[in-house]
Amino acid sequence: MLSPHFLEKAKALDAQDPLARFRERFYLPSNAIYFDGNSLGLLSKDSETAVQKALAEWRDLAVLGWTQAQPAWMRLAETLSHKLAPLVGAEPDEVLVANSTTVNLHQLLSTLYSPRAERNQILTDSLIFPSTAYALKSHLALHGLDPAETLVVIEGDENHTIEEGDIIAQMRGGVGMALLSGVLYKSGQLLDMERLTAIAHERGILIGFDCAHSIGSVPHQFDAWGVDFAFWCHYKHINGGPGAVGGLYLNRKHFQRAPGLAGWFGSRPDRQFEMSLEFDHAVGASGLQIGTPAILSMAPLVGSLQIFEEAGIENIRRKSLGLNNYFRKITETFAAAFGLRCITPSEDNRRGGHVTYEHSRAAQILEALGRAGIVIDFRPPNLIRFAPTALYNTFEECYRVANALETLLRSEAN
Ligand SMILES: Cc1ncc(COP(=O)(O)O)c(C=O)c1O
Repeated sequence: MLSPHFLEKAKALDAQDPLARFRERFYLPSNAIYFDGNSLGLLSKDSETAVQKALAEWRDLAVLGWTQAQPAWMRLAETLSHKLAPLVGAEPDEVLVANSTTVNLHQLLSTLYSPRAERNQILTDSLIFPSTAYALKSHLALHGLDPAETLVVIEGDENHTIEEGDIIAQMRGGVGMALLSGVLYKSGQLLDMERLTAIAHERGILIGFDCAHSIGSVPHQFDAWGVDFAFWCHYKHINGGPGAVGGLYLNRKHFQRAPGLAGWFGSRPDRQFEMSLEFDHAVGASGLQIGTPAILSMAPLVGSLQIFEEAGIENIRRKSLGLNNYFRKITETFAAAFGLRCITPSEDNRRGGHVTYEHSRAAQILEALGRAGIVIDFRPPNLIRFAPTALYNTFEECYRVANALETLLRSEAN
């Protein structure tokens, strides 16, 4: 049994929560506690309204929607870049909403990776998301290089975390580019993107980050840090809906580069409809657009980014750390007794928006919690991730999930 003190404290924390009012803007699953916003964020009423508006504009304006919708569909990507820019610490023209996450990585690699014989290696780690690794290997292969020789992979440890010192030690020799995660998807470790960028640059290495798990949960300052490029998805912490269109950042120092994968929506806007067969690319991240924007998959972002604008990413981060800390503090009172081990770093500046536990019966815990109305997720073979989310979860829910977990483990042990 957990101490009743934890529940009282949770209620007190909820009563003082400056972001509490945002919870009612979301559709919460009935009879369930949703701790899976790091996989698929919930639908907000704002996003629902934005999608309905896009459908009504399609119905009423048909093709005229490209120029007469509010905002015009031709300009929707630009509108979203303005809203996203504060979340990544960039100018709007360095941010693009288009394509999918993996396609954006392909686009960035084809634009920025130009192997010189003596610096053709890419540095990454063994804990990067599989699709990111596949994209890296395919680019090396497209350049006629053998990934076994040109992909330098830092090994993670038993906690699915990476020593930054190990990454830095490998920033040498033939490495011309580094690609790392902002927040590692299994352990939730947050890398020090500022420090890694500074050291990469001292050593003449371009550096980019997969920010799928940090965007919308952790503030970024890409311009101030000097990051070269980044990409991310919008369906996790940003709540943009299943398969929402992805995002990327291109530092303006690379604006002169021609897009690696050219397409007509990457054209200079004033020349796109000249329909010339010569590609004259837009200067900036929007030059990396490829084809016609997926308006219906972008529409939810109009609503969800409105919520981020109102809530403020610094406030979101503060509450996210508070929720994660609280959940962890309660869980740590019984974890070791039941073979549950937290692999997420404990320092605030080393973790993102979820807490991961390792347990030999992780899959069974996931199922049993699911039956008890608690939605979390599972990464085989033995990890369960809990993501109490600042915009729609409460401290009381942290207590309730920890309590359900304790009850379950205790009943299994008896
Ligand atoms: C960390 C990370 N990187 C990349 C991807 C790939 O994203 P997509 O399937 O949208 O291309 C994902 C998907 O979940 C992810 O979690």
